[in-house]
Formats: sequence, structure tokens, C-alpha cells
Amino acid sequence: MKFFIDTADLEQIKKAQELGVLDGVTTNPSIMAKVGITGKENIHAHYKAICNIVDGDVSAEVLSTDYEGIIREGEELAKIDKQITVKVPMIYDGVRAIKYFSSKGIKTNCTLVFSSGQAILAAKAGATYVSPFIGRLDDISTDGLNLIEEIRTIYDNYGYKTEILAASIRSPMHIINCAKIGADVITSPLAPILNLLKHPLTDNGLAQFIEDAKKL
Ligand code: E4P
Repeated sequence: MKFFIDTADLEQIKKAQELGVLDGVTTNPSIMAKVGITGKENIHAHYKAICNIVDGDVSAEVLSTDYEGIIREGEELAKIDKQITVKVPMIYDGVRAIKYFSSKGIKTNCTLVFSSGQAILAAKAGATYVSPFIGRLDDISTDGLNLIEEIRTIYDNYGYKTEILAASIRSPMHIINCAKIGADVITSPLAPILNLLKHPLTDNGLAQFIEDAKKL
């Protein structure tokens, strides 16, 4: 399972990269707004800076919602770096644009996916990744992990190549359960990734080893 980090914070991206487990980055307009990046030139420069830190795919989201706008923006974003994956919302013109990008060899991430039906459309249009938002489903008392399971079954039934990128991760248990189900990728903030490291028996055991090492 690939690990993407869901942030545009360069320090957090560097920290995950230094741990040696990072396979890519996802962003969205809210994430970009959080780091205070404004204006097309600065936004593109920031995506380039992210690409320079990580080796894998970097999702950059289009802001347009009409077909021509999505195509124009997506083609501009794809020119920033070969690592850029154009993130496109699951709407009518978005699916059309994913089909177009797929025919041009431009990688796509179909975002804001909340149902298996939407995931089927994304795969049929040739999306590189589909992003079901599990945390936001959990927030409205709907089982987000169940959606990952459904999409896994459907994609395996037909051999769809689109990778399931479990998004809106809130906890280390989300990551572990996605791995059990067979999600291809998770994208998570830094904290749930770092929380995978933690176990009290590791801490206690290490404290004892350090104590006993003094006797050697
Ligand atoms: C995915 O690509 C999105 O950027 C992200 O995972 C959304 O997460 P949130 O629901 O925590 O905003």
C-alpha cells in the first residue's frame, strides 16, 4: 500500500519523506489556502517545491468546474512537473475531462467520491486514482471503510486499473483498516502516519533496554 501525505506544508512533507515511507502528496484548494499560498504563479511554484521533495505523484486540484476550464487548468498543471497528477472533481464535466486527460497520458485523481457508482464512472473514464473520502462519510454516520470495500470488490471484478486512494483519513485505525481491505493508497495528514509508530510496550521495552545497557 502506498502512503501519500495530505498536506501542502513543506516541513511536514519533508518530515514524512525523511522517515522514508512517503510515496506521494495530495492537496486540495482548502489545503493550499491553509498554507497561505495565493496567485497562480505562487501556487505553481509551491507545487514544484513539493515535487522537489518527494519522488512520487503530487495531486494538484483544478479550480474550474466547466469542461474547457478544467482542461485548460489541468494541462497547465501537468506542465509543472511529470510528477503532477491533475485532481478533478466527480462532476459531469470532471468525468469528461478525466477521459480527455487519460487519452493524452495525463495522470488524474478523481476527487470528492462518496459512492461506488461514482467510483465506477471514474474507473471507466480512465482515472489514475479515485479518492473516496472515508472520514467525511464517517462524520455523517456512514461507514467510510465499507465504501472502500465495495470499490475494491467492483474494481477486482472487472480488473479496473484505477488505484483506490483512500482519502479523508482521520486516524491510524483508518490506515490499518484500509490496508486490510486492500486500498492501493492512503492519503493522510502527518499525525495518523506518525501515530502508527506508537506502542506503550515499545516505549517500556526500550526504557528497560536503555537501563540495562548501563550495566554492560
Ligand atoms: C483528499 O484528496 C482530500 O484532500 C482530503 O483527504 C480530504 O480530507 P478532509 O476530509 O480531512 O478534508
